[in-house]
Amino acid sequence: MVSRVIPVEPFDLVIFGGTGDLARRKILPGLFRRYCAGQIPDGSMIIGAARGDHDAGEFRTLVTEAVQEFGGGRTCEDGTLDAFLAMIDYVTVDARGDTGWAELATKVRKELVNAFYFSVGPGLFGDLAERLQRFDMADDDSRIVVEKPFGRDLETAKALNASLAKHFDETQIYRIDHYLGKETVQNLMAVRFGNMLFEPLWNSQYVDHIQITVAETVGVSGRGGYYDKSGAMRDMVQNHLMQLLCLIAMEPPAKFDPDAVRDEKLKVIRALEPVEPHHIVRGQYSAGDDEADYRTHVEDPSSKTESFIAMKMAISNWRWAGTPFYLRTGKRLKARTSDITVVFKDAPHSIFGAKAGQHNNELRIRLQPNEGMTLDVTIKEPGPGGMRLVDVPLDMSFAEALGPDAADVPDAYERLIMDVIRGNQTLFMRGDEVEAAWAWTDLIIEGWQARADVPKPYDALSEGPTDAMAMIARDGRIWRPIKT
Ligand code: BG6
Repeated sequence: MVSRVIPVEPFDLVIFGGTGDLARRKILPGLFRRYCAGQIPDGSMIIGAARGDHDAGEFRTLVTEAVQEFGGGRTCEDGTLDAFLAMIDYVTVDARGDTGWAELATKVRKELVNAFYFSVGPGLFGDLAERLQRFDMADDDSRIVVEKPFGRDLETAKALNASLAKHFDETQIYRIDHYLGKETVQNLMAVRFGNMLFEPLWNSQYVDHIQITVAETVGVSGRGGYYDKSGAMRDMVQNHLMQLLCLIAMEPPAKFDPDAVRDEKLKVIRALEPVEPHHIVRGQYSAGDDEADYRTHVEDPSSKTESFIAMKMAISNWRWAGTPFYLRTGKRLKARTSDITVVFKDAPHSIFGAKAGQHNNELRIRLQPNEGMTLDVTIKEPGPGGMRLVDVPLDMSFAEALGPDAADVPDAYERLIMDVIRGNQTLFMRGDEVEAAWAWTDLIIEGWQARADVPKPYDALSEGPTDAMAMIARDGRIWRPIKT
């Protein structure tokens, strides 16, 4: 396989919050990797903007350290880092005041593509958008990039959308959900809509149920302050798992273009039924290993925030009525893995009789790690003794199938930043999509608040609370194991 790098025109990228954690861990190392790959042309400028009183030299030192620490060991030709650093500049800017804006305006070249990455808390989005216009830095082709959390409920998301819409058109707003930038997440669309094999079976007539699991081994240590105000519902389900659900459940868009794809995703969210209280289990990890209790990492010793969620969801449309979707996500679970399992129904009639047992096909798509797909197929168990059936996996690892180049793909942030520069919004959430996801999420959270719901404790490094197993067992089904 030959990796293809599509060069872009020179651009100016301003990173507000340029000295912050996200910039250091993801944005700056990601840009460097794209530079090494030959995708960022000379003549581009990357300007850090933050409150800290630094000069460009100090910021370049921060960039160098970020690349060394988080660059993923990418080795480039000698001198590449220096050439990259020559593109880097810095301006001290006060998002809520006037300091620095006139200087920043002298650096941003309106004749080039320009993009403004708001790597700051959502409370500053409106202020930044307003000042970009007031200081005449943006035009109709400028792009702004915003991060999650995009609000904490429908009301705050609407307010954020409104504050951005005052100054920028929807076609200029790039709301990041980094799951959409993952190679294998995009592969969901390729698998579904590039193969004749699956799509005819992709409906409630043939699919018994679908499981989506995003499990992490890390806990909330180091970010308990943020996490305790969000919980798994706001941190993972409203955005990342919702996006996976949309890509698995949506109708085929007519084209792979931004609005065609996002229209179909929106229809899925709008077709979601409210979740019944007994179809949802919240959990919180408790002592059991050195990462200790959830509550030792947060301020409130009696916190009722969930670090785990399992739920049964229903999509009310022709394709999916009657096929449940089981979603599960949590911190401090047994393994780090994200996967989707499509469990097909049993064959309508077994010609081999009861002794052959029940068999069905299962498609497991591994999003991370060990990206790949497994399809369980029923065959005859070899040997004498009559017709006995057995399920065997057709197992494909993308790395093995595609060779070393498969491992050398841009990470989610690299891809998404380059899409911003290219002006392609397909992998970004539209305002109405985010609002619809919050409308559905709010009902669930309000229900917990009304019932003073308390999360169930679960052991660190387990598969989550036993109530989650019981919930799916009531339907005569079981969770697929959490394993890499
Ligand atoms: C982030 C969440 O959006 O996604 C984190 O805030 C979570 O809590 C992370 O750990 C998971 O991302 P990934 O790419 O590691 O699966």
